Amino acid sequence: MDNKPAWTESGAILNQLMEIARISALAEMASGIAHELNQPLGAIATFAQAGERMLNRPDPLLGQALDVFRHINHEALGAGDGIRRIRRIFEHERAAHEVCRMADLVGELRPVLDMLATRVNGRLQVEIGTAPELPGLRLDRLKIQHVLFALVQNAFDAASVRADQVPEVRIEISGDRYAIETSVIDSGEGVPAEIQGQLFRPFFTTKLRGTGLGLASSRAIIEAHEGTIGFEVRKQGGSRFWFRLPVTAA
Ligand SMILES: Nc1ncnc2c1ncn2[C@@H]1O[C@H](COP(=O)(O)OP(=O)(O)O)[C@@H](O)[C@H]1O
Ligand SMILES: [Mg+2]
Repeated sequence: MDNKPAWTESGAILNQLMEIARISALAEMASGIAHELNQPLGAIATFAQAGERMLNRPDPLLGQALDVFRHINHEALGAGDGIRRIRRIFEHERAAHEVCRMADLVGELRPVLDMLATRVNGRLQVEIGTAPELPGLRLDRLKIQHVLFALVQNAFDAASVRADQVPEVRIEISGDRYAIETSVIDSGEGVPAEIQGQLFRPFFTTKLRGTGLGLASSRAIIEAHEGTIGFEVRKQGGSRFWFRLPVTAA
């Protein structure tokens, strides 16, 4: 019996994933702050109103209005710079990206995913099909593993709501020369129509102890990789969350 190294290793991966979750939450917050760059916008609005008053007189104050326009321009350029600075902090360093295969990435995370299954007495199935032959992807390994972890965690949460069956989750990898699609399919009850538009919003959760950051951070990560993420409610029950990553020239 030599399962101690596996445990130690999954503990280490789990720690790293939690760190990624924290960073992703920060990234979400930062993008929120960037969104709320109210201050320069407020200044721009005030200047614009002043400018309007100056021009809207029988004797328009052209010189002063020109000055006001310069202020508006200055504020707008400053706001743009601020946004770019914040963005840059969280941009993926290209150097952190390595070429890997999705099947290997899942394999490496398997002990951690199995722990999620064990916790709810559930079953995890991984179908890699022809995935080993699929092209590799240039990506940030840990961040994509964070996405996998978040989706599988949600899938087991959803599947264990049903008391009538063993919670089942299946990971499928498929793709072609252009993109690789990874699906996480659960045996839950699907997603109620009235919340379908909100799942990816930061802090949206229907769980008692949820953070509402799993899907929001996953989307941020996938989009930073120029990929897409989504879900569908399946006719046969449960849902399928998927993400697609483009195959880029290595
Ligand atoms: N596989 C799924 N089946 C049904 N609902 C889901 C599934 N995955 C996510 N959701 C819904 O999306 C919400 C947001 O998920 P997430 O961002 O991971 O936050 P959290 O898991 O902390 O609630 C969940 O609270 C849940 O309502
Ligand atoms: Mg979650």
